[in-house]
Amino acid sequence: MEKLKIGIAGLGRLGKIHAKNLADRISGCELTAACSLLESELEYARTELGVRDCYTNFREMLKNADMDAVAIVTTSGEHCNQLTAALNAGKHVFCEKPLGISVEECYLAEKAVENHPDKVFMLGFMRRFDPSYIYAKQKIESGTIGEPYLVKATGIDPLKFIEGSLRFAGTSGGLFIDMAIHDIDLMRWYLGAEPKSVYAIGGSYGFPQFAALGDAEAGCALFRFENGAMGTIHSGRTAAHGYHIETEIVGTKGAIRISPIPQKNLAMLYCEQGVVTECVEAFPERFAEAYLSEMQEFVNCIREGRKPAVTVYDGTKATQIAFATTESFKNGRLVEIPPHG
Ligand SMILES: NC(=O)c1ccc[n+]([C@@H]2O[C@H](COP(=O)([O-])OP(=O)(O)OC[C@H]3O[C@@H](n4cnc5c(N)ncnc54)[C@H](O)[C@@H]3O)[C@@H](O)[C@H]2O)c1
Repeated sequence: MEKLKIGIAGLGRLGKIHAKNLADRISGCELTAACSLLESELEYARTELGVRDCYTNFREMLKNADMDAVAIVTTSGEHCNQLTAALNAGKHVFCEKPLGISVEECYLAEKAVENHPDKVFMLGFMRRFDPSYIYAKQKIESGTIGEPYLVKATGIDPLKFIEGSLRFAGTSGGLFIDMAIHDIDLMRWYLGAEPKSVYAIGGSYGFPQFAALGDAEAGCALFRFENGAMGTIHSGRTAAHGYHIETEIVGTKGAIRISPIPQKNLAMLYCEQGVVTECVEAFPERFAEAYLSEMQEFVNCIREGRKPAVTVYDGTKATQIAFATTESFKNGRLVEIPPHG
């Protein structure tokens, strides 16, 4: 079978990772085109990845590039429009999270996916491809912790990269849509149920710039699920020790904790600072394997005529829940989350 031709849109923090994986590490495909608003990033694609077909306009790429599929890793507000245009142009689509930055545009994205049942659409909820999260899912399904009734999630970006967080804050959709969305997806995945209400609070403690944007620097949310289960999420942007991603699932017969100490590796340093385990620096390091596996699954799905387990509906639902969480944070009230539809 011929190699699948894939183009990439977006060559920023994450786009470069996906592009490098597609160019060098994922089997069954080749990276044939790239698109970015920035000429410097396209130069990276040319010189580092050997991509000759480069564009500063997404529609131009869709029209002219020789590609069967496109990976959309652009700014969140572009996702829905671009995925719709790509599907209409006959391309398979991988799209980064969040699906959209409004629930309405997510519904339009659903329609676009439904209108092209012969095309593969996959959303980048990469934690579902991380070995530890997969292990936890298997343990839950085999009954090791009994009936899961609580998911506690912590997701805090490193203080070291606060400037990037501040730059990104205005276009990200806000703390709960940009960051907590991964934890929201995991809660739904592990509990096998939908949340029916949320109460969220938050504030800006060291960086008032977030408050000035109507956003929070750190926030906490409490969820009640339709089956009586509970969820808590703590999201933030100022972990002094590194990238703190931690998840705990509590069940009637036990619990699973994923990365309670988000350590870099299994080594322990005995030094002037004491006995130290270094922390994972940021998302590219923590989820390197997951980014690779999810993109390989996208390519395999196209080549094998399968549909991915993560659907456009997961994207809408997570966005809807993240919006309800943001609304609760802004209004200071408990928000009921309507059923999907
Ligand atoms: N799954 C994860 O773990 C994860 C991690 C980081 C970012 N993300 C998501 O990935 C996306 C990109 O994030 P980032 O941190 O790489 O952002 P970034 O700001 O570093 O890069 C954005 C890229 O999109 C390009 N772009 C923007 N608008 C465009 C347009 N109209 N046409 C073509 N290109 C356009 C820019 O030129 C740039 O290359 C976001 O949606 C973010 O939510 C996901």
